[in-house]
Amino acid sequence: MDPCGLNPNVAESDTVAMVNSPSKPRSEQAPAQPATTPALLRAARQQPGDRVPVWFMRQAGRSLPEYFPVRGEGTILDAIQDADRATEITLQPVRRYGVDAAILFSDIVTPIWAVGFGIDITPGVGPECEKPFASADDLERLRPLDPDKDLSFQIETVTNLVSELPVPLIGFAGAPFTLAAYLIEGKPSRDYGKVKSLMANDTELWHKLCDRLADIAIATLRSQVDAGAAAVQLFDSWAGALHPDHYRRYVAPHSERIMSELADLGVPRFHFGVSTGELLDQMAGVGADVVGVDWRTSISDARMRTGGKVALQGNLDPALCLGSWETVEREVRAVLANNNGHPGHIFNLGHGVLPQTNPEILERVVALVHEEGTASGSTAA
Ligand code: CP3
Repeated sequence: MDPCGLNPNVAESDTVAMVNSPSKPRSEQAPAQPATTPALLRAARQQPGDRVPVWFMRQAGRSLPEYFPVRGEGTILDAIQDADRATEITLQPVRRYGVDAAILFSDIVTPIWAVGFGIDITPGVGPECEKPFASADDLERLRPLDPDKDLSFQIETVTNLVSELPVPLIGFAGAPFTLAAYLIEGKPSRDYGKVKSLMANDTELWHKLCDRLADIAIATLRSQVDAGAAAVQLFDSWAGALHPDHYRRYVAPHSERIMSELADLGVPRFHFGVSTGELLDQMAGVGADVVGVDWRTSISDARMRTGGKVALQGNLDPALCLGSWETVEREVRAVLANNNGHPGHIFNLGHGVLPQTNPEILERVVALVHEEGTASGSTAA
């Protein structure tokens, strides 16, 4: 079974179909016992495998010419709500690059939009709220999420995908801090002044807001896994703006609750933020199985900081992918050499693919990681 016309081996395709079986909610299934575990899931468990798995954050979307005709004219939230379009956009990078995972085409603000908070995604800007979160009254605008009703389009997309994909599907959600940053600032921010001030000055309201956002993240991720996603990534993209003590006090307990309420699903839990070098130990401590590392910290330093407790994902600087192949090749080899054959490594960029990236470069990155990752001894214990 290789419906995408890709060439990951057949056993692996069958394995993923088993891992992702959509027939019953995952929470009711016995753990899958696949014959061959996909490279991504092995590495996520720090188990040796025959290659280093690779995928890219933001692998779907504007860097792919084939994205634009499918995405169409409306907003990105329109495309996300159309299961056929979202399925096709998710598959595009898997077909083109031969990556070891697909990531659901959606956005971290989709569930917030779905409960009617009043948020949109402005092209070239990012998420924006007409009426930002400012007081306890605004909590009412974040009613509990009912995924079967509110995210039925997304569940349909996941169900479509797992029957077609030759690799595991990663579901995702936004973590409370990063979502709260958009809701409170009302738009992308540089200094997070309003968020930090609410956090420190009205701590009770801050925790109530984060409780609601954590509930929404849990419901979102559980629904994706029940529909067949084989792993989940909790994006706390902007948590690196915080002092480690503030992260510990205001953020970690909420991310910890999300991770622990997903534990029974038995899928690897990924956790990622940008500029989180000083937070990596805590991010590993909230219950993640895999921690994403941006390009500012080496994989070997990240492994020391996390005490070997988690697998690591990263961390080629996405800006370098705008340059010549010779440079990219050297830097890919440097990341692999720095990991030194440790089995708990999932190759990725240190953040998302930049829209100007030439897809041919990423295609070559995947081929090189697969070739080199095997040669450099990823099977070593
Ligand atoms: O391939 C994939 O990674 C899957 C799709 C995906 C999108 N958003 C689609 C998207 C994922 C995983 C996200 C997550 C997301 N969204 C994050 C966390 C990841 C990260 O990059 O740190 C964040 C912070 C957001 C919020 C958001 N949405 C931003 C900052 C933007 C970019 C604004 C812009 O136009 O530059 C968006 C819009 C968005 N989400 C686009 C895509 C493909 C681009 C807009 C479009 O195509 O219309």
